[in-house]
Amino acid sequence: MVGRIGQNGEFALSAFCGEAGAVSLPSPRLPLSALLVGVLTACSSNGGSARSPTAASVAPAVGAVSAGDAYVPGDGNGGYDVQHYSLDLRITPKATPELAGTATVTAVATGPLTRFDLDLTGLNVSEVTVDGRTASYTRRDSELTVTPAAPIARGGRFAVRVRYSGIPRQIDDPVLGRYGWLSTSDGVFTGDEPSGAHTWFPSNDHPEDKASFDFRLTVPHGLTAIANGIQTGTATTGNSTTYRWREDAPMATYLAMVDVGRFKVRTGRTPGGVPVYAAVDPTVTTTTADKLYDTTARVVDTWAKLFGPYPFASAGGVVDNLQVGFALETQTKPEYGPAMGADPTTIAHELSHQWFGDSVTVTHWSDIWLNEGFATYAEWLWGERSGTGPSVQAQFDQRYRQTGSPDLWTVPPAAPGRAQLFGRSVYERGGMTLHALRQKVGDAKFFAILRAWTSEHRHGNATTGQFIALAERVSGKDLGRFFQVWLYGKKRPTSW
Ligand code: ARG
Ligand code: ZN
Repeated sequence: MVGRIGQNGEFALSAFCGEAGAVSLPSPRLPLSALLVGVLTACSSNGGSARSPTAASVAPAVGAVSAGDAYVPGDGNGGYDVQHYSLDLRITPKATPELAGTATVTAVATGPLTRFDLDLTGLNVSEVTVDGRTASYTRRDSELTVTPAAPIARGGRFAVRVRYSGIPRQIDDPVLGRYGWLSTSDGVFTGDEPSGAHTWFPSNDHPEDKASFDFRLTVPHGLTAIANGIQTGTATTGNSTTYRWREDAPMATYLAMVDVGRFKVRTGRTPGGVPVYAAVDPTVTTTTADKLYDTTARVVDTWAKLFGPYPFASAGGVVDNLQVGFALETQTKPEYGPAMGADPTTIAHELSHQWFGDSVTVTHWSDIWLNEGFATYAEWLWGERSGTGPSVQAQFDQRYRQTGSPDLWTVPPAAPGRAQLFGRSVYERGGMTLHALRQKVGDAKFFAILRAWTSEHRHGNATTGQFIALAERVSGKDLGRFFQVWLYGKKRPTSW
């Protein structure tokens, strides 16, 4: 679902492509460089205009080949808004094919469509239908271009069904490392931020287009298949077991997960009433399902008191036996490697993302500090409150003293560039920005800002400009210069 049309940068940007229409200018606080990149992308991709309501009648009825996000060129598409993904997948670890099934993508056309794209890397597509009728399709790079038998009218709801199979290709990014569809000793594990989802399912793979999901995962008997949300059924036939999962709240594609293997599972409810599903690979020696369950329950209830009601119908986590350099805040059930799943600070970080990142999702990847800066701040809060770490103030001071750290001071957290998407500035200077804000507006206003943020943008998308506006509204202060130096400045702030 693409929310809040009109606050969406792409609509605003189409003004620069020479089209008339009532468009609002983007926030003047956005750095000019970011604007120019946006303009160039929106004007050069044919669909930048196809998404604009004013241009729809004149532009060719072809969906854009990308969302126009310079940090992830090619990711996402235009011309439609996905409502739901239904993934019916047979996963047979280490077999060929390892993955086979169908993805049914239900969407609403945002303009008339004779043709549109889905993102999909590798894999063999054997059939595409639109509303049950055979559609023609072509593949090029990571684009699956679909031409339905009949054009789709603007506002029309349609279901694309893609039958496909193969061995998903893991991403080995020079900056981000290995991610995507990863093999474990007894199964597979998906960790998709930012661009991994379309290595295993056809999608509008950009966080701007959130949708609900259901999963039907068929795996060899003896293995467990876990996905987001609540478990809605299990059935064993012959040598296979089918696990059904469902996530009704809107979810960004990069937060979708499947994890297949052997697991020890513990389920229950937090004292605050949130259902918890905790799964740990039994070959992991650093933690147990009980420990993961207990820490998860404690953190979920603590964050609910501080950040606002838990945004989803279920919570949990999965610890799998795989050496990955990251944990990931997959919606409702973060995924962890063996070391990270044993660490309460990491659990506190990933669960804070359920509010900051999963429920309130970035509109553009350049806004990633809205995820990682907030989750880093949550780590500091957890350390202070649980007595396992230094005070938040000490965390701030210890970093502020690092005058010779260019990774912190020359990289603006709200415009870090693709290479620093998950760099120190986004996490740590992002967290410091929040602490500096707290010092400026006081505790009561600061936590009111956090709660207003999670409630006003619940299950939606948001931008740094919107955060600044909200902080100014709630605090009653002009914070323009404050955020300029902390979020966009290329040197260490000395006064704010
Ligand atoms: N969001 C993750 C975290 O909470 C980081 C993911 C980094 N992505 C990657 N492909 N390595 O820290
Ligand atoms: Zn994070």
